[in-house]
Amino acid sequence: MKQSKIFKLVSLSVITAGLLVGCGSSSSSPSTTPSSGLLGAVLKGPIDGATVTVYDQDGKEVASTTSSAGLFTLKKFNLDSDYYTILTTGGSYEDESTGTTVSMTGTEGLETLLSKAEFSEMLTNKEYVAMTPETTIFAELTKENLKAGDDLATATTKAETLIQDLLIKNSSPVSQLQGSDKVLKKGNLVKAGASSATIALAKNRAISYSNLMKDLGLAPDRVFEIITKIKEDIKDGKEDGIDLDDDGTLDVNASEVTSNARDALFVQTTSRISSGNLSEAEREELGSLGFNVNATQNRNVSEREARDANLTADIANYKVSTTLPTLNILKTMRDEDGDLTDAKATYTLTANTDVNVTINTPEGSWVTPMWRYNNEQLPLIIRANRGDAMTLKLDNQLKADSTIHWHGFKIPAIMDGGPDVPVASGKTKEYRFSMLQPAAPLWFHPHPDMQTGKQVYMGLAGVFLLEDDISKKLETDKNLPSGNKDITLLVQDRRFAPEVNGVRALQYKTMAMDSDGMLGDKVLVNGSIVPKLNVKTAQYRLRLYNVSNARNYDFAFDDNRSFKVVATDGGLLNEPVEMTSITLGAAERVEIVADFSNDAVGDKVLMISRVTAGGMMNMGDMNSGNSNSGTGGMNGRNGGSRMGGMNGGNSNSGMGQQNSMGGMTGMASSGQGFVIMRFDVNESVRDDVTLYTSLPSTAEIATRIDPSTATNADNPRKFVMTMARGTSGMSFVINNKTFDMNRVDEFIATGATEIWEVRNASMMAHPFHAHAVQYQILERDGKPATGTDLGWKDTFLVQPGGSVKIVAKFDPLINVGDYMYHCHILEHEDAGMMGYFRVGATGNVGN
Ligand code: C2O
Ligand code: CU
Ligand code: CU
Repeated sequence: MKQSKIFKLVSLSVITAGLLVGCGSSSSSPSTTPSSGLLGAVLKGPIDGATVTVYDQDGKEVASTTSSAGLFTLKKFNLDSDYYTILTTGGSYEDESTGTTVSMTGTEGLETLLSKAEFSEMLTNKEYVAMTPETTIFAELTKENLKAGDDLATATTKAETLIQDLLIKNSSPVSQLQGSDKVLKKGNLVKAGASSATIALAKNRAISYSNLMKDLGLAPDRVFEIITKIKEDIKDGKEDGIDLDDDGTLDVNASEVTSNARDALFVQTTSRISSGNLSEAEREELGSLGFNVNATQNRNVSEREARDANLTADIANYKVSTTLPTLNILKTMRDEDGDLTDAKATYTLTANTDVNVTINTPEGSWVTPMWRYNNEQLPLIIRANRGDAMTLKLDNQLKADSTIHWHGFKIPAIMDGGPDVPVASGKTKEYRFSMLQPAAPLWFHPHPDMQTGKQVYMGLAGVFLLEDDISKKLETDKNLPSGNKDITLLVQDRRFAPEVNGVRALQYKTMAMDSDGMLGDKVLVNGSIVPKLNVKTAQYRLRLYNVSNARNYDFAFDDNRSFKVVATDGGLLNEPVEMTSITLGAAERVEIVADFSNDAVGDKVLMISRVTAGGMMNMGDMNSGNSNSGTGGMNGRNGGSRMGGMNGGNSNSGMGQQNSMGGMTGMASSGQGFVIMRFDVNESVRDDVTLYTSLPSTAEIATRIDPSTATNADNPRKFVMTMARGTSGMSFVINNKTFDMNRVDEFIATGATEIWEVRNASMMAHPFHAHAVQYQILERDGKPATGTDLGWKDTFLVQPGGSVKIVAKFDPLINVGDYMYHCHILEHEDAGMMGYFRVGATGNVGN
């Protein structure tokens, strides 16, 4: 009987290792409780073979036993001490996030401290004692308080309060929403009732320490050392920071790292639920943690069906619609110096408000006041050649600071248009630099402090098409479509207010959810909704820009035809990649070659954005309704905005993979499908383009950067994106830090080649972007880069729980100064999900 239970427990923990909450809790509760002793669980991963020893207040051993698969039973002994400490040493467990077996050595282990009263109460009630990393911190703090002269009650309360305030309060969606978590929520981690829910939660917490180690990039067996350091950090009631590597500098903050670790765990848990395949045991365990597993899955299925049905209806409708507006072709600006052949160009971009833009849609037109450059109706295109010396003037006629950031450009930091060099209202600035990088679909947009989202949303952005000898030769050799078969498509979602006298104003951050990433319910392509483009029976080069504030798209054609991706953010791919759909996060670009040569005149082909599965876990799916919604709001640097999804209770908003706002019925979510535009085949021609199969070897992208040449090859620079909870609510951060214009976060040597590892320990996908150069992706989620990941990238989506490893070569002559890295969901960036890295010894920011 006992044997089979242990077997079940162990095998379950193997199955679920690294995925979510540990193994089936229901099977870990023995059906009979020995009346003679104390039951306990040792949970840092269920520890097997640990020596569990009870000491009285004088340090005298009074009982001892050995744990088996995380459980133990202590023989009865006389309770004649004021308190007892229970300590484990030795044994081994399977680390949940890495799957490795950790054997404990020396004195490391878990601990707890129980008063005589608690001990006897637990015995009477046949409750479990749970030992977790947090009980260990609790016991150590209590012992120190006792040593300092506190009486037992004071010592205990002080330690509990510290843990409650610094490690638990606001730190975990699970702990906030877990109604049954009375014991642990109070901060009293000493005892855990025999309910499976409490043991499951204790396990869940213990596993978060496994995530923590992974987040910190430390080996799992150092967890006990880190527990000690966390205890040291919170001892004085301040979060001074932890010196992880003992180099004398404080690296991380205890409450933030534990909070982030729990977020990571929560992400795993929710995405597990969303993905469906849960075993009965997992279902039970998640149920006991407070997740309404069935409701989530059912709702996900019905939402998915509803979205699919909507898209199908839209496709049927727009396929035959006779009222689609004609696609606007974006205007290319003229070089102001008049000489179109020299390698110099001057352009002026005047940022204006109150430009009355006509929005054409299949259902008619309306006027929307927008902000534009040069009072134009539409975003402009600047074309340049590699080697060109650019002079780009910004004339800021907005009522606020602005800048122009040159997104994807390899230029000195001082010319990069970051918030550290603002251009005040009414002022002008000249950006001067040379185009010293391969042909690429670049772009530009404002980047002022905390206002980037608003200014871009209102309409300030432009396209910068860089060409070089290779791209031009491919065009003249007819290895790439060109001329009027080269179309730039700017995709942006917007939300419009109801019409008043033919005018529909843009709505920005008018709803609680908007601060989590502004999503519109209408998708515009070059300023129109579902436009059409007449095409010939030929191949077309479509330069596809996702310049939305927050939305991801999964571009495809309605007949699922394949296309060739020929370029990514930073230039042509060495080899075109054939695909049937491609996901672009905010700020990502691709150039695709769509082939209409096999279509007949009269055919209509829709470009769509497919419905994405996305985890649509809602906080509203937590069973417990008593969460404290007062701490659930999101307070970014802009303050005040609320994120409904964290409110628990009956909130039906949620977040999940693909940054979908799953539960918001009637509101566009990132996983929703759209018809983007239509291609009407109206003329039969002989297609004369034979697409290139590989670039000449002189193309930089033909050579992969050798990661072993990186200055930090053994120790990649780490960026962890999280949505952390502080006392004021939720914030979006990288490496636990909110953007500070006067702080440089990372220091990089002149001319260095560096490997960066970008991890997403949050519940939604984030497009990570870094300025300065174009990057090569080495690995995605631990697997070598393939396909379009082999192109130059300046922005890439990192999925919840995912990681992307990149390599960057900083140019010693160009890359100097302070550049930013950030999430390109502009509302996250504005809320502080951004930092500075300094290349070289001097910069333009702060010290
Ligand atoms: Cu397109 Cu720092 O941004
Ligand atoms: Cu940029
Ligand atoms: Cu983000």
